[in-house]
Amino acid sequence: MTTPEFTPGPLMELSGRYWETCTLHAGVKLDIFTMIGTDELASAAVAQKIGADKRAVEMLLNALAAMKLLQKSNDSYRNTLLSSSFLVKNSPRYVGHIIRHHHHLVESWAQLDAAIQTGQPVRTRVTFDDEDRRESFLLGMFNIAMAMAPVIVPLIDLSGRRHFLDLGGGPGTYAIQFCLKNPQLMATVYDLPTTRPFAEKTISQFGLTDRIEFKDIDYIESDIEGTYDVAWLSQILHGEGPEDCRKIINRAVSALESGGMILIHEFVLNNTMDGPLFPALFSLNMLLGTPSGQSYSEKQIMDMLSAAGVEELRRIYFESPNDSGIIAGIVKK
Ligand SMILES: C[S@@+](CC[C@H](N)C(=O)[O-])C[C@H]1O[C@@H](n2cnc3c(N)ncnc32)[C@H](O)[C@@H]1O
Repeated sequence: MTTPEFTPGPLMELSGRYWETCTLHAGVKLDIFTMIGTDELASAAVAQKIGADKRAVEMLLNALAAMKLLQKSNDSYRNTLLSSSFLVKNSPRYVGHIIRHHHHLVESWAQLDAAIQTGQPVRTRVTFDDEDRRESFLLGMFNIAMAMAPVIVPLIDLSGRRHFLDLGGGPGTYAIQFCLKNPQLMATVYDLPTTRPFAEKTISQFGLTDRIEFKDIDYIESDIEGTYDVAWLSQILHGEGPEDCRKIINRAVSALESGGMILIHEFVLNNTMDGPLFPALFSLNMLLGTPSGQSYSEKQIMDMLSAAGVEELRRIYFESPNDSGIIAGIVKK
C-alpha cells in the first residue's frame, strides 16, 4: 500500500528537468533575450530576426514564458526582470557565457554511466579544446567571478600586501577586483598561453594594464617566477588529482615570501564528502572532463596546505550559490 504523499512525482520532475535546461540553453544560443531587448515582440517578428522556423519559435517562446523567463501578453513577448538582468548581452550582469559553457557539457553528462564504469573522462579539457568552447569557458569564468568578487573581495584584508599572484587566474577577474579594492597592489596572472588574449583584453577593459601582467605557465610542469606576498588559487585544484594539487600548492608556497598569505578558493565538500549538493555534482563534472580532478573537502585542502608548511589555517565563510569557500593560511620561512 502506498501513502498518498509518497509518489514518483519528484522523481519524474527531476528526471525531466533537463528539458528546461535545454530550453534555456536554446534561448541563450539563439540570443532570443538580446533580440527582444526592451521591446515587446510577436513570435513571427522574433522568427524573422533570427531567421528561424515560425512555428518552432512560437513553441520556444511559450516554453520560456512558462519558465517565467519571458512574459507573454496579447501574443507578444517581453523580457522579465531576471532575463533582462542576466540574459541580455549588453547587460553588465550578463551570464550567457557560463550558460553556453554548461551547454557544451551536456553531451558528456549524458555519458556519465560510461565514465563511472571506466573511471575515465569522456570529453577533452575545454582549456585545450576549440576556440569557441574556450571562449565560453573563460568568459563563463568571468561571469561567475564577477558575481562572486563583490562578496569575496571585501572579506580579505590585503591592505599591507604589494604583489598578488593569481595562479590559473583565467581572464584575471579576481586580480582585477582585488587591485581595484587595494590601490597599492600589483598583480601577476599566470595561466596557459591560450588564455593570454582573453586576460589581456579583460585587464585592459578595466584600465589596469600598468598594474597587472599576464605570464604563460603550465603549473604542473614549471615553477613560478618572482616573489609575492599573497597567492590566490581560485578554482584550479579541482582540475587535478591530489598529487598534482600538492605540486601546485608547493609551487605557490615557494613563490611566497615569509609571512605571505595563501588563499584557496574552491567548491568545498564537507568532510564526509556527501554534500553540499553542488560540490558533490561538480566532482562528477570533473570525472567527465579530467583524468583525476575532483571536488575536495575542507579537511583535504587543509591537509595539503599543512603538508606544504602553511600555518594559521582558517576557513573564510561567505554566502555562495555554488557552495564555494576559501581556506587561508600563512607561509613562514
Ligand atoms: C576554472 S578556471 C578558474 C579561473 C579563475 N581562477 C577563476 O576563479 O575565475 C581554471 C583556470 O586554470 C587554467 N589552467 C588549467 N590547467 C592549467 C595549467 N596546467 N597551467 C596553468 N593554467 C591552467 C585554465 O586555463 C583556467 O583559466
